Amino acid sequence: MKFEVREDVAHVAVAGADILEALVRDRPEAVVVLPTGRTPIAMYREMAQRVVAGKITLGGITTFNLDEVLLKRSDSRTFFQFMKTHAWGPLGIDESRAFIPDCEASDPLAECDRYEAEIARHPRFDVAFLGIGQDGHVAYNLPRQVQARTHVVTLDAATAAALGESAQTVRAITMGIKTIASARRLVMLATGPRKRDALRRLRDSEPSPEFPASLLKDHPSFLVIADKEAAASL
Ligand code: PGA
Repeated sequence: MKFEVREDVAHVAVAGADILEALVRDRPEAVVVLPTGRTPIAMYREMAQRVVAGKITLGGITTFNLDEVLLKRSDSRTFFQFMKTHAWGPLGIDESRAFIPDCEASDPLAECDRYEAEIARHPRFDVAFLGIGQDGHVAYNLPRQVQARTHVVTLDAATAAALGESAQTVRAITMGIKTIASARRLVMLATGPRKRDALRRLRDSEPSPEFPASLLKDHPSFLVIADKEAAASL
């Protein structure tokens, strides 16, 4: 695991976009894992600018989302809606090659198997872009709710509140930690003071399901790109 510290959110976004740009120059048909959340929004904006400027073309890539919440597809909190707004459209990604768990799956467990099978039908992930929760969650591998492969989780109150809804029980489908770790490269973005303690804990802790991000520490290519605020305790 390596840490790279950049000045601010904008510089972290540039660093993330640089990684994707270099990858698709080499492999226009790359398979890429994409995150949702507040953190990657600046990176998607940076990538979109490069697409508009003709610096990169993302029409050949295949993407898999890390996770999805089990809500109506029309709900603005679904990651389907997030991706439509921030990524698929603005980046010119071919939606027939943009995979995300079905938020309206009638049988969520079967949907997990279907998603793993879809992943298995494709070449190995070239890169997985990740975020980190303050409690160390990665995708929705929550503390003590970690599994190896794609699975269903019930969000705890704090995680559900981050979606903008605290009163309701929200379930989600998430890639498992081994599914994520199967990528050739892991690139985690972390910005702002809220992530300070999580990054210090990531650096200092032994791999443990109590702090799921730590389970990725043994990956041979794991880069954490943090801004100065998030890295202040490192
Ligand atoms: P955030 O979420 O980018 O909104 O902080 C990160 C995460 O929960 O993985």
